[in-house]
Amino acid sequence: MTAGNGTRRDMQAAGSSLQDARVRGVLERLHRSARGDLFRLPRAVVGNALTQLSGRRLTPEMRSRAMKDVYIPISAEQGKFLYLVARSIGARTVVEFGTSFGISTLYLAAAVRDAGGGRVIGSELEESKQRQATANMAEAGFSDLVEVRLGDAVKTLATVEGPIDLVLLDGWKDLYLPVLQVLTPKLRKGAVVLADNIFTFRKALRPYVEHMQSGRNGFQSTTLTIADGFEYSVYVGE
Ligand SMILES: C[S@@+](CC[C@H](N)C(=O)[O-])C[C@H]1O[C@@H](n2cnc3c(N)ncnc32)[C@H](O)[C@@H]1O
Repeated sequence: MTAGNGTRRDMQAAGSSLQDARVRGVLERLHRSARGDLFRLPRAVVGNALTQLSGRRLTPEMRSRAMKDVYIPISAEQGKFLYLVARSIGARTVVEFGTSFGISTLYLAAAVRDAGGGRVIGSELEESKQRQATANMAEAGFSDLVEVRLGDAVKTLATVEGPIDLVLLDGWKDLYLPVLQVLTPKLRKGAVVLADNIFTFRKALRPYVEHMQSGRNGFQSTTLTIADGFEYSVYVGE
């Protein structure tokens, strides 16, 4: 098949948007900047701990504000895995809890574009991150596919229209279950839900993992030993 006589769909199917120069450029820049988390993350964590020690309640908004310069992204390996999963199931509607600067969103948008188009709906509590993620999508050429909703994902994702093909959970850990419960009625059978940081937040995420692995809630699920533990769940229906 030559580019000269192929249709637009043929040409999309022949390659990967991850090889597109614009997409690669933004991803490389963001992954490089994220290395600074080595210094920024401990500072933010200590700041949040001091707030709690002083007896003040640390709201999710305060935690996100303190993390406004911290990427805490998925790894490039996880990104590639997300892309492959999304491509395998032909995902056209993807929802993400916790967008940060948009690293994971870029891998998801690349997969949706290569499947022939659709939508990626991200969510971010911190306004400056939502703005920068939106700008990063524009720089990569994904503005037509991606919307990053500002505010608490439990509310902003409640209005997403199904059927949803794929969900990535990567926001604050106490909300994985509430966000999942908002989205479950909109999942199509065979939809994939991926949840990050199962190992670091083993205790906080135990209720989530039990919900997914019990076999009683419409999911079949296993924890993959990729990066910090990726819970891989398939919605099989109740
Ligand atoms: C681990 S980071 C996400 C990293 C991103 N998925 C990536 O790979 O680049 C978690 C993000 O979730 C956001 N977040 C936390 N709670 C949220 C909520 N209730 N609604 C929307 N975003 C939230 C935080 O502000 C933070 O930027």
